[in-house]
Amino acid sequence: MTRKITPVIAGLGAIALIASTAACSSTRETATPAASSGAAGGLIGIAMPTKSLERWNKDGAHLEELLKKSGYETTLQYADNKVDQQITQIQNMINQSPKVLVIASIDGTALAPVLATAKTKGIKVIAYDRLINGSENVDYYATFDNYKVGQLQGEFIKAKLANMTKPVNLEPFAGSPDDNNAKFFFSGAWDVINPLVKSGDIVVPSGKAPATNDEWTKIGIQGWGSDTAQSEMQNRLNSFYTGGKKVNVVLSPNDSLALGIAQALEGAGYKPGDGYPVLTGQDADKANVLNIIAGKQSMTVWKDTRALGDQVAKMVDQIVKNSKVDVNDEKTYNNGKKVVPTYLLAPIVVTKDEIKAKLIDSGFYKAADLGM
Ligand code: BGC
Repeated sequence: MTRKITPVIAGLGAIALIASTAACSSTRETATPAASSGAAGGLIGIAMPTKSLERWNKDGAHLEELLKKSGYETTLQYADNKVDQQITQIQNMINQSPKVLVIASIDGTALAPVLATAKTKGIKVIAYDRLINGSENVDYYATFDNYKVGQLQGEFIKAKLANMTKPVNLEPFAGSPDDNNAKFFFSGAWDVINPLVKSGDIVVPSGKAPATNDEWTKIGIQGWGSDTAQSEMQNRLNSFYTGGKKVNVVLSPNDSLALGIAQALEGAGYKPGDGYPVLTGQDADKANVLNIIAGKQSMTVWKDTRALGDQVAKMVDQIVKNSKVDVNDEKTYNNGKKVVPTYLLAPIVVTKDEIKAKLIDSGFYKAADLGM
């Protein structure tokens, strides 16, 4: 993966060098001379869902930095997880005629009308991390292999089961029903776990075990809220784990949910060490890596947001220059109107003893950030 992205950075770096006298600014006026001097240049709109999750802050900052270094002007907007706010932000960006819009959507089904407007102005659209559904005007998609994320969580749980007394008590959670990624995360995990529910190795005392992957929205946590996940876990513990019954495994699709679930576990008296449930996650957010170190979370699936930014910056550059755009999956991501050409990156499992090798040695975190 790293080898793949190196030329991107080098290529964009070269553009940045050529354009450096005129273009390293965030104002439109200074970007225009860069465009006319032969560098790529132009405005790129970036719409991110929320500042409340660490990963989106990193995603936005990294992508903006890369694009600016390469002579593009950027407008970066966060929408506080509010769909209407995101639509207004995108409309405002369209009014400024950007060359490309990069959008990490909040509700993957709500953007078709605003993207139709983008199309009339010839603006290209890259769906960032989350697919945008129900619109023909999504030109490309760049993401991590979302099914694989869930599969890695499922396989992690399955491997842990080998040393546990059966049947094991498991509680499953799923992500926000309006996020297209969430169904892929759940399917990847449930394809590994559901056979073990069917065989009786796993039981779900709350009864919240979807019979099929399609029923995942019934256990979806709207807006990926930590608080919502915490109260849902508290309810399950209070109602179904009475008389000394203990939960052994919690399938959490991401880190924001895992934070809330860990709070609920702590509140119910679970202490790190033997008897603390296996708890999955995704994103390698700092608070969660600290929880992994403290024994309050078992793993996270790390998606190196720098690599996604590198890839998207490369795709933006290819679009602007009318070059062939890099994709590696042209069959999986059907948004209801078309199969969106996609570039998939590989997610990586991180456990406590891998934090140094994977997260610190790669420069994703400094040892001091994690108190190491
Ligand atoms: C992203 C995850 C993130 C979640 C909540 C998903 O679409 O792929 O990385 O944890 O949204 O923001």
